[in-house]
Amino acid sequence: MKYKRLGLIVAFCFASWLVLAFVIFNENAVKKIDVETRKGSLLKYIQELEVQISQQEETYKLLVDKLKKLTPRPENVLQALEIKESPLEKPKVPFPATKKDVTQDIILPVLVFSCNRPDIRRSLDGLLKYRPDAKKFPIIVSQDCAHGATAKVIRSYSDASQVTYIQQPDQSEPIVPPGEAKFKGYFKIARHYLFGLSQVFRTFNHTAVIIVEDDLDVAPDFFSYFASTYQLLKNDPSLWCVSAWNDNGKASLVDVDQGSKLLYRSDFFPGLGWMITKELWDELEPKWPKSYWDDWMRRPEQRKDRACIRPEVSRTRTFGKIGVSNGLFFDKHLKYIKLNEIPVDFSKENMSRLTQSTYDADYIRNVYSLPLVSAPDVRTNVNLPFDGPVRITYHTKDTFKSAAKLLGLMDDFKSGVPRTGYHGIVSFFLNGRRIYLAPHSNWKGYDLTWS
Ligand SMILES: *[C@@H]1O[C@H](CO)[C@@H](O)[C@H](O)[C@H]1NC(C)=O
Ligand SMILES: *[C@@H]1O[C@H](CO)[C@@H](O)[C@H](O)[C@H]1NC(C)=O
Repeated sequence: MKYKRLGLIVAFCFASWLVLAFVIFNENAVKKIDVETRKGSLLKYIQELEVQISQQEETYKLLVDKLKKLTPRPENVLQALEIKESPLEKPKVPFPATKKDVTQDIILPVLVFSCNRPDIRRSLDGLLKYRPDAKKFPIIVSQDCAHGATAKVIRSYSDASQVTYIQQPDQSEPIVPPGEAKFKGYFKIARHYLFGLSQVFRTFNHTAVIIVEDDLDVAPDFFSYFASTYQLLKNDPSLWCVSAWNDNGKASLVDVDQGSKLLYRSDFFPGLGWMITKELWDELEPKWPKSYWDDWMRRPEQRKDRACIRPEVSRTRTFGKIGVSNGLFFDKHLKYIKLNEIPVDFSKENMSRLTQSTYDADYIRNVYSLPLVSAPDVRTNVNLPFDGPVRITYHTKDTFKSAAKLLGLMDDFKSGVPRTGYHGIVSFFLNGRRIYLAPHSNWKGYDLTWS
């Protein structure tokens, strides 16, 4: 344990030096420097310290590992890494090679939520263009708002038997708590979702559903993606949805050329083109909220530690600048999301890699075995004298946000979970390199106060 002590002393000296330097610097210049600059330099010191601490932690683990190898009854090093050992046991394979694949015949309806956007034509044309099989993927359009021009467009498709058209009968004004009047739209949307999903599962008696909205373009392999992930969703109880959306799916942040086949698990519910099963609806329907349904789903009481599957390159893209949520978010972010252009036949892909046991063992261990670098170095890509994937570490909400901002990632949290995060890890692709923004290796779970 001499090494550990030495490491800690080095870390302590470095930390003291940083603090001292900061204090001296601070005293001389305090009057001239505004608060923002001081916050910035503090954050920078903290980040440097975090890198130091993480490197020390790793040295510590390495030495403990070495020590354990020399002792007669070595503990599993994974315990030090806080990864459960059970995932390494052979997982129950949900893909029996011999039995007939009964899920092949499943009907996967696409439920399109609509209100007052005659441009729904663009969404429906896209869905119809890429739909490989009308029987397997019936399209149901549910319209709220009773908007005449939009109704006319939808009717033209239902008259041609291309879609089933249903209408939300409840056009009453929703009851909105005082102070939330300007969010009335969100109350209507939640009520509409309750209606549409009940129709799909109770009236039409479907087993699963793919949910989209009237302002989504879909990628050519949209249907292949959902058809091939259905079995995974059905068989892995730690999954509760499949989504077509990558919240950090800007062209500059994904592997556009090589990444089309790449799928991930995500603790963050992405929405925007997503699939659930009837079992989940049975669970959610009785407590469905009056508004803000998506953030409600992201709360621990609903999510119950379950994950969604999401792609590296999005299979949906929104073209709707004007909607209930503001146009600013569209201009700043949504319009840059890359829609996949290299179609993948997902029926040929091995999905068992994504089951929790296999994925957690491989993915998390891989991430924590990568070289640790700083966010500024990743950004400039100059101080990294090697190729290949790397890891950036974060310890606090502020260092996550600061790194995310620097790298162009979404920096918000919902119920403590960063967008696309899995076990706190955010994967992205920058300057031709795979990068993981990952919490320190003693991470204990999401902090609900991070927002
Ligand atoms: C709905 O489907 C299930 C099985 O998929 C079946 O057992 C049930 O009878 C169906 N209910 C209705 C109302 O059609
Ligand atoms: C699919 O992947 C799993 C786990 O990664 C592996 O054990 C299995 O052999 C693969 N199956 C095929 C057919 O390649």
